[in-house]
Amino acid sequence: MSRILVTGGAGFIASDVAAKLASDPGNEVVVVDNLLTGEPAKIPEGVRFIKCDANDFDDISGVFYAYRFDYVFHYAAVVGVKRTTDNPVMVLRDIDGIRNILDLSKNTGVRRVLFSSSSEVYGEPVEIPRTSGPRH
Ligand SMILES: NC(=O)c1ccc[n+]([C@@H]2O[C@H](COP(=O)([O-])OP(=O)(O)OC[C@H]3O[C@@H](n4cnc5c(N)ncnc54)[C@H](O)[C@@H]3O)[C@@H](O)[C@H]2O)c1
Repeated sequence: MSRILVTGGAGFIASDVAAKLASDPGNEVVVVDNLLTGEPAKIPEGVRFIKCDANDFDDISGVFYAYRFDYVFHYAAVVGVKRTTDNPVMVLRDIDGIRNILDLSKNTGVRRVLFSSSSEVYGEPVEIPRTSGPRH
């Protein structure tokens, strides 16, 4: 049995990831989300949901120490160009979020952490469909 944490699991990408993971009876899946943009209706069947802010160490650390996860998928973030330009400080606080996830994963024996980058790393497309990789 693998214990898996999915952050941002009431959102677009992570709700699908959580559903796929939960479809394997060998997985126990916990979803955390602060419902900033997420919707409870997107949280899939068969997972345990905890309303929690990944950027708040006290909030998220309790979840890590209670469950001792094997794997963590981190998708909790402020997303969307308008939302991020309207709320730059809130976006910067997401750095606390990934720091919390990495520190707590290291300190509680998580085997692997997976997170998504941003499609913004590809920049403006030079042709459609895109064929170029990310800019470095
Ligand atoms: N949608 C895309 O095409 C795309 C492409 C590449 C990368 N990504 C990345 O994938 C991740 C998820 O994107 P999405 O499109 O599913 O966004 P989304 O807004 O649908 O999902 C994000 C979820 O995170 C939750 N959340 C936000 N801040 C939180 C916090 N501090 N603690 C707990 N929960 C929090 C929101 O409530 C929401 O449910 C983001 O990091 C995004 O940059 C998305």
